[in-house]
Amino acid sequence: MLRTHNCGELMAENISAEVCLAGWVASRRDHGEIIFMDLRDKHGVTQIVCDPEKNKDVHQKAHELRNEYCVKVTGKVTRRPEGTINPKIATGEIEIEVSKIEVLSKADTLPFEVKDDITVSEDVRLRYRYLDLRRPVMQKKLEMKHKVYSFITDFFDKEGFVSVETPMLTKSTPEGARDFLVPSRTTRGSFYALPQSPQLFKQLLMVSGLEKYYQIARCFRDEDLRADRQPEFTQLDIEMSFVEEEDIFGVCERFFGSLVHKILGRELKIPFQRLNYYEAMEKYGSDKPDTRFDVCLHDITALGAKSDFKIFKEVASSGGKVAAIAAPGYGTISRKDIDVLTAFVGEYGAKGLAYFKVENGELVSPIAKFFSREILEMIRQQTQAAPGDMIFMVADTRDVVYSSLGALRLKIGREKGLIDENKLQFLWIVNFPLFKFNKDESKWVSEHHPFTSFKMEDMELIEKNELDKIRSNSYDLVLNGSEIGSGSIRIHDRDIQQKIFDILGLTKEECAVKFGFLLEAFNYGPPPHGGVAFGLDRLVTLFTRDQSIREVISFPKTQKGTCLLTGAPTEVTEEQLRDLGIKVTKIKSEK
Ligand code: AMO
Ligand code: AMP
Repeated sequence: MLRTHNCGELMAENISAEVCLAGWVASRRDHGEIIFMDLRDKHGVTQIVCDPEKNKDVHQKAHELRNEYCVKVTGKVTRRPEGTINPKIATGEIEIEVSKIEVLSKADTLPFEVKDDITVSEDVRLRYRYLDLRRPVMQKKLEMKHKVYSFITDFFDKEGFVSVETPMLTKSTPEGARDFLVPSRTTRGSFYALPQSPQLFKQLLMVSGLEKYYQIARCFRDEDLRADRQPEFTQLDIEMSFVEEEDIFGVCERFFGSLVHKILGRELKIPFQRLNYYEAMEKYGSDKPDTRFDVCLHDITALGAKSDFKIFKEVASSGGKVAAIAAPGYGTISRKDIDVLTAFVGEYGAKGLAYFKVENGELVSPIAKFFSREILEMIRQQTQAAPGDMIFMVADTRDVVYSSLGALRLKIGREKGLIDENKLQFLWIVNFPLFKFNKDESKWVSEHHPFTSFKMEDMELIEKNELDKIRSNSYDLVLNGSEIGSGSIRIHDRDIQQKIFDILGLTKEECAVKFGFLLEAFNYGPPPHGGVAFGLDRLVTLFTRDQSIREVISFPKTQKGTCLLTGAPTEVTEEQLRDLGIKVTKIKSEK
């Protein structure tokens, strides 16, 4: 090694030792004669002292150093003078009296300072990600992710799981996003798809008799990116044979319990709470509810129907829904603030936002005249609104009411500081519907994926064509309002699988082309099996309490899917295209 110690380990017990350190110049302070320097490496910071009285050459050399030069220093550990001890850092009691400085490499003027607190745009950070990652705060995030990954390896090994790699160059998997395609040179005109998840392969591994599989798997999905979505991300992917839901919940709860203990030093309450999908939607307007605070939706459709308020009556009679939430302490907000909230719910499709202030035990509103005293009192009681609260209501289709009020409750929770940020609220959402109707394409689609099994007692609903009522054997794991995982018990019966494909409108030929290999494998004694996959980037983002998934990914893509560091995606040469038999047609407006 070029050093005897790292920059975070020298303490009082090392005083008088001759040492050699290597790292980056984090700061240089010229105190007239003496030059002080903070030398930083991955482990910490050590103060270096260059005193011209003691060593003229070294002092001269120190003058030439600039921030982020990579240097090696040799010297003696000494005690810092009284009054200059810094108890905040591990090496705060000592400093190095330097006898030699070697510049290992120089640094240009930096695009931003390499320190924890910087105010620089994310674009610049991503452009110079290697410098961004040099900041201690970023190093800690990478390290945390590493610890999570190495814990996973230990835990699943002890639980008897086997980690198996599955192909990156493969066929489309049914997770519902667009595929990233890779053209084949040897079979021109044919394409591999990068896996959206290892779903089909892990099921094949169950047919292979593996019984307990896990993988830290890269997944690729070409979809609209958000703060919690990247085009490539990492899953902890799990599959088990001869299991029921409870077995999967059990192993996952043990895993998260010990992971959180190990990584965050905190204890989780096990088993996790469970919430029925329908209840989650009714109460929170979301299938990934943040249950850390109590503001909830209340169904007042029946009361709306009994009022004289036209919009509510119409919505109620046309099969829509009217729901209300009581916003604590919002009674005093201005007309303008209400307009802002109305525009906010408008983004989710709500055509308006009715509001009632709770004043002296009564509900006051420009539209109160359309409601009898009894109905207003029933609304107040149902919403449990207290004096000073504001009751907000939306009348619309079920979907619009859920999404708009679901978002509004989160906004209220955040604005009023109702969310305990210290809580780690794990929650299983169970009993998802098996299908949902896609209005745009006018067809039934899988809520999870087509291999998800369902409650056998709901089989008759298929015959009755009451498809929306069929309950699947799938589940999501939610942490603090974020979907961190999803899974199901799979179908292992060919005939039932075929029934599902029929409902989804997949012809025999389409099935054969898409998943023929899986169906074929199911001819050879597939065991009952099920599994789950967790989004590790999302999980670590929640652990680090960051707002964006990009914070915990070493080299992430921007919202537009580009890498500002490498410039990817880029054009390729004519020659490369020719090899692949590809001709690119450029649309003028794109260039
Ligand atoms: P699903 O598609 O729900 O299930 O994905 C599982 C988990 O992966 C995470 N995730 C993402 N994270 C970051 N960026 C993305 N674009 C992204 N997409 C998904 C989420 C999600 O809960 N094969 C099934 C699992 C199974 O049935 O076993 C699957 O992939 O946290
Ligand atoms: P208007 O009669 O359109 O002036 O609306 C009266 C009040 O009802 C306003 O506060 C609107 O925001 C609200 N409103 C209008 N449409 C809806 C709706 N679909 N759901 C809830 N409130 C609504």
